[in-house]
Amino acid sequence: MDLAREMNDFLGNVEQALAASLVDDPSATHQQGDILMEAGRHLCLGEGKRVRPRLVRLFAGAVRAPSAPLVDLAVASELIHSASLLHDDVVDGGMFRRGRPTVNAVRGNIVAVMSGDLLLCTALGSLARIDPALCPDAIALVAEMTRAAIAEVEARGNLSLPLEQLRFIQEGKTGSLFGWCGVAAAHLAGQPEARRRFDLFGRHLGVAFQIADDIRDVTGAEKGKPQYADLLSRTPSMPVLLAVSRDEGLRRRIKDAWAFTSIAPEKVRELGLTVIATGALDEAVERMHVEIDAAIAALGPWASEPAAAELISWAHQLAASVQGQARKTA
Ligand code: FPP
Ligand code: MG
Repeated sequence: MDLAREMNDFLGNVEQALAASLVDDPSATHQQGDILMEAGRHLCLGEGKRVRPRLVRLFAGAVRAPSAPLVDLAVASELIHSASLLHDDVVDGGMFRRGRPTVNAVRGNIVAVMSGDLLLCTALGSLARIDPALCPDAIALVAEMTRAAIAEVEARGNLSLPLEQLRFIQEGKTGSLFGWCGVAAAHLAGQPEARRRFDLFGRHLGVAFQIADDIRDVTGAEKGKPQYADLLSRTPSMPVLLAVSRDEGLRRRIKDAWAFTSIAPEKVRELGLTVIATGALDEAVERMHVEIDAAIAALGPWASEPAAAELISWAHQLAASVQGQARKTA
């Protein structure tokens, strides 16, 4: 069977197992059904790119990890990600995700936060059943994601945020979970060297992913999100930080705009166009390439495995699509 067919079959099994892990608790204490699991299903089922389950499958393929626990491992990775999104939408006040209203929009913040907690417990319980030795890394992962998320909140409105601090946030929010998918797969295969290398690969790829997200915010290529949402939400994204370091006048203008509680759409557009005019997108694309090159170098001897070659081609596709959009916008 070719890799694409195997991946499709695998993702089909992941969908089924994900749905099975989100069934109502039959406990008689619920008065209106299991609202927390219902919230989990609302976010998780039917939508989502399943990036982390794909990573689990490819990392596992590269080290020939035993296949029996892989679907459950992939589901755990998706549940951890989903828990973080439930919490993130509360933190950001996000009202739409994956083309649907968010759980916090429909059910309020309390249900969203507790549903995230429950999904996290479901993931950790499942990991403990696969192999209790998977749990310490997963717990450290959640702590790292949480620290990065609060660092991002603290960075809001800060146009002098050092780029190393932005990278810390990007690595913690996204790279840590990408890397963990490889750490867990290599652990199951009993390959400590692969574990170290896959962690590094995932971390660099996750940072590249976040930079791509920041670039798409400026190019307007992010489906379902308004262009310049980062400027509107006072988020010091990479293009914004690079732009203000090139243009002090722009720094003052953004600072002034961010001093008000709301920013007019024309103002946001005018600032966005000035960010583009500084050439910051080209530099952001370059920095994304540096991360992708570092990710690929981290694979070392595993780079020649067919599943790892798939990881590499995926990283290149990400770079090419974002670079194309950035060129058209500039
Ligand atoms: C989406 O980012 C959010 C994340 C990648 C992680 C958020 C992490 C936490 C809230 C910490 C808690 C973690 C767990 C596991 C419970 P984004 O806001 O840049 O993307 P978006 O536009 O899709 O919201
Ligand atoms: Mg968010």
